[in-house]
Amino acid sequence: MQRHALRVLIAANLGSHARRPSCDDAGVSLLLDRLLVLLRPCALLLLGVVFACTAGESRSSGPEAGETSSGPVAAAEEPTPVEEPVADRGVEGGVVADSPGAAAAEEVVEEVEPELPPPVATYMGREIAQTMHWRGADWLLRETREDEEHVTQLLDNLGLEEGMAVCDLGCGNGYHALRIARRIGPEGTVYGVDVQPQMLSMLRRRAEREGLDNIERIVGTVADPRLEPDTCDLVLLVDVYHELSYPEQMLASIRASLRPGGRVALVEFRAEDPDVPIKPLHKMSKAQIRREWEANGFEILSEFDELPWQHLVFLGKKGDR
Ligand SMILES: C[S@@+](CC[C@H](N)C(=O)[O-])C[C@H]1O[C@@H](n2cnc3c(N)ncnc32)[C@H](O)[C@@H]1O
Repeated sequence: MQRHALRVLIAANLGSHARRPSCDDAGVSLLLDRLLVLLRPCALLLLGVVFACTAGESRSSGPEAGETSSGPVAAAEEPTPVEEPVADRGVEGGVVADSPGAAAAEEVVEEVEPELPPPVATYMGREIAQTMHWRGADWLLRETREDEEHVTQLLDNLGLEEGMAVCDLGCGNGYHALRIARRIGPEGTVYGVDVQPQMLSMLRRRAEREGLDNIERIVGTVADPRLEPDTCDLVLLVDVYHELSYPEQMLASIRASLRPGGRVALVEFRAEDPDVPIKPLHKMSKAQIRREWEANGFEILSEFDELPWQHLVFLGKKGDR
């Protein structure tokens, strides 16, 4: 813009010089011509200086510079999402200082959000069920559930003690989480994990109504419950394992989350029993449970077979006992 204005100014001056012979007075004209001949080198010198200045300006603040400066702005905006996790992980200095530019950003993204393979449709011969939608959450609180599933008997047999750290993985709207929270008392913690934040909102409202403040809600991903390693005495999964589309990744995270001696309580509708009125896709056989969990570093510790509709299988890390 500035360069363009200077160019217009110079063109006007040269133009006024070109129109000057129209003057009638030959003497004056001659004088003027001589004067112009004398001034021409100065004009050329001035022209050179003007062009030198405008060229310098265009490199530092002209339109071209404006365009390239949008590069650093975009680059500064793009890495923002990965900068926070990097700081959280306490590796900001190392990664950022040693690897400037886009390469560093890619490296960090890779670390923070490892690329997932596609979800599996079947696992070890079992078809994986769709996740139950939060709009159907009322079904989880149905009045008949105690009669159908003997939930009190289930909770009585989990080995719950005051002060325990218990994860209810795939907790839904908190049907079990709230009752566990009461049983383990204020010194204990329930980690309520779900992939649907709407489920966790319902859980929060229910916990608030009951004055329970020992439940931590965690929005998990389909492949990671986002539990800290070595934190859980018990991980409970009720009617959720058969929905996991990343079973191997989830089982690895569950394993890592267990404290030494920690257990998993797996509850699934019995596939062996045609009288259990649940769709086959939402049931599991004991043989299938054993096959899948043992392949992922777990061993069956004990089984409770008294529930009307469900298997209750306790598992621990292989070699942990
Ligand atoms: C059938 S509901 C059972 C809810 C609860 N366990 C109960 O018995 O009342 C299954 C729940 O698991 C959740 N879920 C599915 N996949 C999950 C995953 N990968 N991580 C955490 N939660 C998951 C669903 O969002 C849903 O709330």
